[in-house]
Amino acid sequence: MNQDTIAIIGGGNLGRSIAEGLLRNDYNPAQIYVTRTKVSLLDDLKAKNIQTTSDNIKAVQQASILIFALKPYRIESVLKELSAHITPKHVVISVISDFSLEQLSNCLAPTIQVIRAMPNTAAAISQSMTCLATKNASDENIAKAKFIFDALGETIEIDENLMDAATVLGACGIAYALRFIRAMIQGGIEIGFDAKTATKIASQTVKGASELLLQNGNHPEEEIDKVTTPKGCTIAGLNEMEHQGFSSSLIKGITTSIESIQK
Ligand SMILES: NC(=O)c1ccc[n+]([C@@H]2O[C@H](COP(=O)([O-])OP(=O)(O)OC[C@H]3O[C@@H](n4cnc5c(N)ncnc54)[C@H](OP(=O)(O)O)[C@@H]3O)[C@@H](O)[C@H]2O)c1
Repeated sequence: MNQDTIAIIGGGNLGRSIAEGLLRNDYNPAQIYVTRTKVSLLDDLKAKNIQTTSDNIKAVQQASILIFALKPYRIESVLKELSAHITPKHVVISVISDFSLEQLSNCLAPTIQVIRAMPNTAAAISQSMTCLATKNASDENIAKAKFIFDALGETIEIDENLMDAATVLGACGIAYALRFIRAMIQGGIEIGFDAKTATKIASQTVKGASELLLQNGNHPEEEIDKVTTPKGCTIAGLNEMEHQGFSSSLIKGITTSIESIQK
């Protein structure tokens, strides 16, 4: 597939992660626009030959794929300002949580195809999990969106009514997993490792555990059974964690996150 020119409107945490992920995948930087109002904060991307500007209209006019990565409270005013410049040649992709396909379409001409994408910040190292949803995009345009997000990690298509759940499990999930790793590091230091060594051991161990599931397709409990010797230290520690509410607190955290989106 030939490279489309991509404009990322909103070069904050996620917008720049996407740009960096595209660069890592050999996208031509001259065909990537990133915008924000404080454009000097994009100088590091400019140094990599990405087109940076505060002029959203210019970026929209140059690109065929538009990725909106603004905070939810900004999107309506920005889309209204840009709607006269967004034509059916554009594919509009929004990574904004809590802003529906219907709300996006209401800000644009009826012929514009819109796609919601929910990636996470691991896009910067091409390890994102991205969920895509659309109601009116053609197969060709869904393939274009998939092509971009496949370069940034794994992609699946979901029904839009699961987008809040995708936000929590996939995007907030990065923070949950990192807090888990941080706790492992703190425990590792308490049992004798320096912080750097504990970080290395905890991070690689969590990566290995994920890969066991991703590569073997096993249920987590099947892999846990392999390391829990009867009367051994692993089961003693695991059971103590469960007595302290480990799984329960994680599940409650996930349901609290989704309640806070949907309230
Ligand atoms: N962070 C994540 O892990 C994640 C994951 C999935 C989805 N999301 C969604 O992605 C969106 C962005 O999140 P974020 O964490 O990247 O937020 P962020 O860091 O605040 O980025 C938003 C960017 O938009 C820019 N901006 C504001 N007004 C603008 C305008 N008129 N034109 C162009 N750019 C403008 C801001 O820069 P200036 O102030 O310089 O304009 C800012 O850099 C949110 O809706 C969030 O729900 C985030």
